[in-house]
Amino acid sequence: MTLAVVILAAGKGTRMKSAMPKVLHPIAGRPMAQHVVDAAAALSPANTVVVYGHGGDQVRAAVTGERLQWAEQAEQLGTGHAVAQALPHLNEDVVLVLYGDVPLIRPDTLRDFVARVTDRTLALMTLELDDPAGYGRIVRDEQGQVTRIVEQKDASDEQKRIREINTGILACSRRFLNDSLPKLSNRNAQGEYYLTDLIAMAVEAGMEVVTEQPAHAWEVDGVNDRVQLARLERVYQRVRAEALMRDGVTLLDPARLDIRGQVTTGTDVTIDVNVVLEGRVTLGEGVRIGPNCVIRDASIGAGTVVEANSVIDGAEVGEECNVGPFARLRPGTELAARARVGNFVETKKSRIGEGSKINHLTYIGDSRIGKGVNVGAGTITCNYDGVNKFQTVFKDGAFIGSNSSLVAPVTIGENATVGAGSVVTKDVPDNGLTVARAKQRNIENWPRPGKK
Ligand code: UD1
Ligand code: CA
Repeated sequence: MTLAVVILAAGKGTRMKSAMPKVLHPIAGRPMAQHVVDAAAALSPANTVVVYGHGGDQVRAAVTGERLQWAEQAEQLGTGHAVAQALPHLNEDVVLVLYGDVPLIRPDTLRDFVARVTDRTLALMTLELDDPAGYGRIVRDEQGQVTRIVEQKDASDEQKRIREINTGILACSRRFLNDSLPKLSNRNAQGEYYLTDLIAMAVEAGMEVVTEQPAHAWEVDGVNDRVQLARLERVYQRVRAEALMRDGVTLLDPARLDIRGQVTTGTDVTIDVNVVLEGRVTLGEGVRIGPNCVIRDASIGAGTVVEANSVIDGAEVGEECNVGPFARLRPGTELAARARVGNFVETKKSRIGEGSKINHLTYIGDSRIGKGVNVGAGTITCNYDGVNKFQTVFKDGAFIGSNSSLVAPVTIGENATVGAGSVVTKDVPDNGLTVARAKQRNIENWPRPGKK
């Protein structure tokens, strides 16, 4: 059995009140439509077709996937018409219809659902709601067999009391779509070609309509406005946070962690409040993350402590390091084991050796720092001449006095000491003391100027 997925994403999304197409609004930093494409991809379909309309170029640029195809629906004439636009791209046995604005559908739910489709069986995803208003209702006969779907605007008062609703998600054979989509009519309250009219056609053709419910109601929740978008963002984050806790991570407040990517954790990781994890993040065993930290595309070694208000981006932090509070590690930073980077320190494209310390108010860019180096408060690597960037090398055991400027390219020798306030423009030899600053002059009994 080969599978194709059709994702409907042509709607205007008027209620978003946005210049951006609705399906590009993000959940956890990723466009809603990308969530759907990714969920579909987990089923390894032979083909995925996104039906787009508004902002087609933007959608095509922002959503990616394997074997992804695009079908334009220039005018939104209804969900049946939308699927018909995908039809010319389809050759597979079974077709699954999903929605670009229903972002949290889970692959497991879809797998069980698609498995029910045969030549003679159409699968429909439904849900029982206390308040079914607005949805298409599932009409069943006395035997409990589904006979049709009636849209809210076409429903009788009696039908409006039905609490089982159509989520919109359905799957059936491509052959049945081929035969039935051209027969849809738009003679209904909305003047649209309803995909839901396929149900009555299937029944008429002697097919069976089977229904499945998602494991969680939020899987089939759609987004029409930013209130619903925010609500689903919170659902998504709660699910991610619970998964982390089940993996052995302590979260001081699961409602105050946001995950926008892939996170791998060792045991006994502790994360304090208001932390954002983005991209690919790996946290080793026993790592502790303080409050208000942002960690993006980084790995943090076992036993490392990241104190409050630190930003770590594109960095590799070794084991048992100390970072922050208020540290900023920028892309290309590597900390070896037991290194320390303290408050108001910024690092970029630099390797900091084992046990080295940069504790306060420092900029380290394009540097190689050896083992056991001590970089005093206020040290700046002057790595940029306005055009080019240059390297600074700190050999093992070097000691840089406070408020020194190291004008790259420059090398600080092994166990060398640089006096505080130096402006170092030439290489510093091993083992010595280098002082590169104006000599202090003391003028005795100097008369202070008085007021004229
Ligand atoms: C649809 C279903 C309804 C179901 C509800 C679930 C039909 C006729 N009705 O109603 O039974 O309970 O979803 O939310 O299918 N779209 C297009 N092109 C179009 C029309 C729609 O791509 O021409 C897309 C929209 O972008 C949206 C989805 O299809 O993602 C659903 O369209 P919408 O107009 O919201 O359908 P409903 O009236 O809510
Ligand atoms: Ca809808």
